[in-house]
Amino acid sequence: MRKEVVLITGANGEIGHGLITHLAAQGNYEVIALDVQTLDDALKPLCLKFIQGDILDTMLLGRLVVEYEIRTIYHLASILSTKAEYNPETAHRINVEGTLNLLRLAVEQSQWQGRPVKFIYPSSIAAYRLPNLETKIAVGKVKEYNWLEPSTMYGCNKLYCEHLGRYYTRHYRQLAADHTTAIDFRCIRFPGLISAVTIPTGGTSDYGPEMLHHAAQDKPYPSFVRQDCRIPFMAMPDAVKSLLLLTAAPRQNLKHVVYNVTSFSLSAIEFRDWVLKYFPNGNISFEPDEKRQAIVDSWPADLDDSAARRDWGWSPDYDVERSFSEYLVPNI
Ligand code: SER
Repeated sequence: MRKEVVLITGANGEIGHGLITHLAAQGNYEVIALDVQTLDDALKPLCLKFIQGDILDTMLLGRLVVEYEIRTIYHLASILSTKAEYNPETAHRINVEGTLNLLRLAVEQSQWQGRPVKFIYPSSIAAYRLPNLETKIAVGKVKEYNWLEPSTMYGCNKLYCEHLGRYYTRHYRQLAADHTTAIDFRCIRFPGLISAVTIPTGGTSDYGPEMLHHAAQDKPYPSFVRQDCRIPFMAMPDAVKSLLLLTAAPRQNLKHVVYNVTSFSLSAIEFRDWVLKYFPNGNISFEPDEKRQAIVDSWPADLDDSAARRDWGWSPDYDVERSFSEYLVPNI
C-alpha cells in the first residue's frame, strides 16, 4: 500500500521530535520534514526527505506542491511567546505570514487532489488572557470561547491563525464562481509542554521544563516566576497522542475548529517539588522576572478540555505522577 505523505514544519522543534519519532514507529507515513535549522541526525533516517528552509520562502513551498501529494500538514513552526516580544514584527511575519503560506499550499494540494488536505495546527494557552490574578483563580478551567484577548504577539498570532484556518475551511473565496475544494483545518490549544529529549527555546512556560532539565544536569536554576504561579502542563507523548487523535477523528464528529487539551495543572513550587522528588540535589530558587511573570499570570490556571473528550475521545495517558516517573525521569 502506498504510504501517506505528511509535511511537518518546525520539524526540529520540541513537538516535531515527538511527532516524527511516533509517525516513524507507526510505519504508515512518509514524512517530509521542513525546518530553518538543520534536523537532528537521529531524526533524518525517519524522514523521506528533510528540507532545510524557511516557511516564508514561497518558491520552496511551490516546489513542494508539485513534487509531493501531501495528505496532512502539521504546521508546527513558530516563534514562541518570550522570543516574539523581542521582535514582534518578525514574529508576526513568521507566525502569521508563514501560516498563510502553508494554508495556501494546503489549498493548492486540496484542489489538485480533489479532496481536502488535513491541516493540523497547534495553538496555545497564550491565546487567552485573564485580566488579573483574582479572576484567574476564580475562573479555574477556561473554555475555548472565553477570555480571548491575548497580551502577547505570539498569543495574538495564534488566535488569528485559528481564525484563518476556520476561514480557509469554511468560507474560502466564498464569492468566487469557481468555489474551490476547502481544506480541513483542525486546531489544538496546548498547555505548557514538557519533553524529556528537548529543551524549549523562547517560550514563557519554559520555567517548568527548565527546572527539570537543569536539576537533571546538576545545574542551579533560578525560576523566573513566583512559587504560586499556576498553569496547566502536559508531557510530550500526550501532546503527540492528541495531535494524532484529532487527525484521525471523523470530520462529522468535530463540532469545533479549536479544542483545548490538558493533563495536569501545577504551581511553580509544586513543579519544583516533583523535580526534587527525583533529583533531590536540584538547586532551584525563585527569582521572578516581573514582566515574564505578568505573561504567565495572564494565562489560565487550568483548561476545560471536555469538548475534545466528547468529540474525539481525548484523554491524557500521563498524569503528573506518570509523566515524571515513567516518561520524563527515565528518558532524561
Ligand atoms: N509554551 C509556549 C510559550 O511559552 C506557549 O504555547 O510560548
